[in-house]
Amino acid sequence: VLAAACLLCVAYLLGSLSGSLLLGRLRGVDVRTLGSGNAGGTNAFRTQGLRFALGVVLIDVGKGALAAWLALRFAPAVAWPAAALAVVGHVWPVWHGFRGGKGAATAVGALLVLWPLAVPLLLGVWLLVLVATGYVGLSTVLATASLPLWAWLFDAGAPRLAFSVALALFLAFTHRGNLQRLRHGTESRFERARLLRR
Ligand code: G3P
Repeated sequence: VLAAACLLCVAYLLGSLSGSLLLGRLRGVDVRTLGSGNAGGTNAFRTQGLRFALGVVLIDVGKGALAAWLALRFAPAVAWPAAALAVVGHVWPVWHGFRGGKGAATAVGALLVLWPLAVPLLLGVWLLVLVATGYVGLSTVLATASLPLWAWLFDAGAPRLAFSVALALFLAFTHRGNLQRLRHGTESRFERARLLRR
């Protein structure tokens, strides 16, 4: 029980290490004051460029994977709750005034460890919607919303299905601003030109 409790704390604390805010400190910028105001890879790319964003994604995916791996190794019974807490830590980080990102990259990291098959499916839907619409937020919401379907289709078991449903609902919640902007026609599109220039 103690090990499980420790692992859950570690998962939350790891999740609280925000890639964009840590790298931003080195550069003297807080991406929460720029672009969409989100502390995540997309807004890092939007406001700081590709190299910085790749570093952000690496940290955010990596911490999700590390939290899940540690839990799986030392307290497997709480591996899924630990994955969820890493995502929660990213969204409400104790190290950054509880104002973090939206949790997608961290969730992908955890899934890489706990349910690797889901990752190419997620990325497939994400890319498809991104290419079709140009909206990263919408792509993330729809890709995550497809996760319960994959869990059901592949008979992935109750823990995976439960995590999928919880994640789909939680990411729809963290992306509520994006969805509202989409409705009002003010959501910014992915800047392809910017990617090609770098
Ligand atoms: O997961 C974050 C991404 O889906 C949206 O980021 O900066 O456009 O709100 P942003």
